[in-house]
Amino acid sequence: MKKDTDIVFTKPSLAEVDLNNQRVAVVGGTGGIGREFAKVLAQKGAKVIVVGRTFRDENVEGIEFIKADLSLVAEASRVGKFLPAENLNYVIFTTGVFAAPERKVTSEGLEEDMAISYFSRLVILKELVSRLKEHEGKRPRVFIMGYPGDNKLEGCDDLNSETSYGAISTHMKTVTANEALVYYLKNRYDFINFHGLNPGLVKTNIRDNFLGKNSWKSKAVEWLIGMTNQTAEQYAKKIVPLLAAPDLESLSGQNFDKNADAILPSEGFTDEFNEGYVNASEELLKKLGLAN
Ligand SMILES: NC(=O)c1ccc[n+]([C@@H]2O[C@H](COP(=O)([O-])OP(=O)(O)OC[C@H]3O[C@@H](n4cnc5c(N)ncnc54)[C@H](OP(=O)(O)O)[C@@H]3O)[C@@H](O)[C@H]2O)c1
Repeated sequence: MKKDTDIVFTKPSLAEVDLNNQRVAVVGGTGGIGREFAKVLAQKGAKVIVVGRTFRDENVEGIEFIKADLSLVAEASRVGKFLPAENLNYVIFTTGVFAAPERKVTSEGLEEDMAISYFSRLVILKELVSRLKEHEGKRPRVFIMGYPGDNKLEGCDDLNSETSYGAISTHMKTVTANEALVYYLKNRYDFINFHGLNPGLVKTNIRDNFLGKNSWKSKAVEWLIGMTNQTAEQYAKKIVPLLAAPDLESLSGQNFDKNADAILPSEGFTDEFNEGYVNASEELLKKLGLAN
């Protein structure tokens, strides 16, 4: 991952950020990094809607909950229609799992990691893009979390991992897909700003599906990650000033690292590649009878 030294922009300090009258949806805001985002955003005055399966912040002022199992395209589509897009200033996607050691398939026929970590975002965004709009002369901002800038490029010929399956290679497809999605959307919708977020390693529940929840392996790995990296709360406190930075207005398609610094895109993400990826995704949804 390389810093994008051509990008010069100023971030306010967290103390300077004022999000009163701002509305934010954090899809995946019930746990891990997204939950910390939601809490910091609400502390700064934003009205936040979190989407996930388990609400853990009933007592936090400013946070509302939409319950949804986003492994299902039908649910993602419902959430996309239900979210009050016209009023949103920010939409943040942090939903995710890590692929399981053995291929898992949702009741709709999609590989589970791709369904949750990528297709749910594509489907929700399809419902939102036509309704998001400028507020007080500022474009709505969409942030897609994954691992952009890491030069991981997986092809789109077997998006459902039907021909061959490996947990790591399947998860890398979600990484490629999310990076491609940011550039694809940036080219299509110039009245919305799209950005990619790469959090680096953060101690959360994301690897449970792969390592086994509460297993000794999971405890050891998360302990090590916790000892050597920032916490989700520390990361959220760095990112919220970035989300609100006025200079971001002119930077659609930009990725940011764990310190909220601009990073370069991965190599190979040409317009043709990105379009091909999203088209292949749509084809797969059609094949499974999941396209609307
Ligand atoms: N942590 C890291 O080291 C790391 C590294 C690189 C990239 N990332 C990326 O960062 C993002 C956030 O990950 P995290 O580490 O915060 O993970 P996390 O702690 O596991 O949180 C994931 C979030 O996704 C939601 N979610 C998972 N399955 C869902 C489902 N079927 N339906 C609805 N919501 C579901 C969870 O909600 P519930 O708890 O309510 O189910 C939770 O809010 C992901 O995009 C991940 O790929 C993380």
